[in-house]
Amino acid sequence: MSLKTPAIEEDRSAVSPDSAQDAAPESGTKKKRLYIESYGCQMNFSDSEIVSSIMKENGFEATTDFNEADVIFLNTCSIREKAEQTVRNRLSQFNTVKARKPALKVGILGCMAERLKDKLLEEEKIVDLVAGPDAYRDLPNLVDEVESGQKAVNTFLSREETYADINPVRLNSNGVTAFISIMRGCDNMCSFCVVPFTRGRERSRDPYSIVNEAQTLFDQGYREVTLLGQNVDSYKWSSNTELKGKAQIEKSGTADTTGFAQLLEMVAKVDPALRVRFSTSHPKDITDDVLHVMKRYDNICKYIHLPVQSGNSRVLELMNRTYSREWYLQKVDKIKSILGDECGLSSDMIAGFCSETEEEHQDTLSLMDYVKFDFSYMFFYSERPGTLAAKKLADDIPLATKKKRLNEIIDKQRAHSLERNQLDVNKVHQVLIEGESKRSADYLQGRNTANKVVLFPRENYQKGQYVNVLVEACTAATLKGKVVEA
Ligand code: SAH
Ligand code: SF4
Ligand code: F3S
Repeated sequence: MSLKTPAIEEDRSAVSPDSAQDAAPESGTKKKRLYIESYGCQMNFSDSEIVSSIMKENGFEATTDFNEADVIFLNTCSIREKAEQTVRNRLSQFNTVKARKPALKVGILGCMAERLKDKLLEEEKIVDLVAGPDAYRDLPNLVDEVESGQKAVNTFLSREETYADINPVRLNSNGVTAFISIMRGCDNMCSFCVVPFTRGRERSRDPYSIVNEAQTLFDQGYREVTLLGQNVDSYKWSSNTELKGKAQIEKSGTADTTGFAQLLEMVAKVDPALRVRFSTSHPKDITDDVLHVMKRYDNICKYIHLPVQSGNSRVLELMNRTYSREWYLQKVDKIKSILGDECGLSSDMIAGFCSETEEEHQDTLSLMDYVKFDFSYMFFYSERPGTLAAKKLADDIPLATKKKRLNEIIDKQRAHSLERNQLDVNKVHQVLIEGESKRSADYLQGRNTANKVVLFPRENYQKGQYVNVLVEACTAATLKGKVVEA
């Protein structure tokens, strides 16, 4: 699973629990088997770990082979039409499995479940269970209902649920890097985006439960955590939130609140050998305090995912991003002035948003020329039912134009990625080893602080170790070198 991917709906992965004993059936009772496949952003992958934990408590062991599963869950994404189509195609593949094994139960979790609710049951006959992102504690009951022959749906969205007390089962784990969800939902109403509808209102998780989770991971040998949220910079937790409710805290004004800068510092203090990353930052919310905390702690990685979406202020306004081109560029200048040019910067870009002119598209390209992102996730606009844009703006850019603009953005990004990587050649980078290179067993791979993948000869190095690598060559995607001192 890609660790730097905020939202690639094409990404999917099946579970494989990191602990071998999970696979051992208890003597006497045959455990039921759960196969779970995740799509979409890191939040969804992280949620699948919570789901596996809840199901494990209720007697389901994870399997990586859907043929032996009693229950199949697809944890789905709705961000673009293609993301939903991918899931529907996958469901049709499971028809043959179900034909062979009629007792098999299929559940749809996540954002498609929330968006389509019981319509999914009508549209996809194979589906037995539909559970939205805040309904996972109810999954064992829903599965019971389904096993008694009914269909089951829970798409209730909560204002409080953060799953703070649930200890996630780490799936597909390399044993070195892990995600920690620090908040859920999103209160921004970017006009193109379905997330506020599928994930509900923004809520932050108790900071102490976050620090405890980071500490536990460190004690288990993990060396990097990524703090996750749709908009981490608006993280805000009040000590008496749960006791008194928000209205009363605001009245009394005495609540002890923790913002993202403080949280980041608390997690960084767990151990200097624990790297800390975070994603995603909204340009309107990232504060200088956060940048200063990043500078103060060597173990907070110098990398910010700061999606711009468009380089034109009129389009940004239509997108309801609440910042302008100038504001964004000032943020970038601030980041570079506090953290230096080595700080990694990446973005998300949408080509061909409603009414975007050719000149406005050129503004996106010129913004890219100014910033020179290390990498970007690039998409053409896909209208999503129910969003502000779908209601108010015409999706009027022809598909061919959207694709042409997207290709220009991709070409430019590729050139910038190469250019930025070339600046890293002949320099020594501290790398946390994550495992074997995907291409060759003779090489190991890890990332530097700026989130760039670095490859080097295996020798006797082990994953979880920090090494200093002299980078000798690069492509637009990776850096390659040799360890100079352990
Ligand atoms: N919370 C993050 C984004 C989460 S969605 C943020 O605000 O930056 C990830 C990315 O998907 C977005 O940044 C955007 O670039 C893209 N995206 C969202 N809705 C889209 C749509 N309707 N069409 C195309 N791309 C979209
Ligand atoms: Fe969507 Fe905007 Fe929220 Fe990101 S900040 S999840 S793009 S509404
Ligand atoms: Fe997709 Fe939902 Fe994430 S729509 S991008 S899985 S929050």
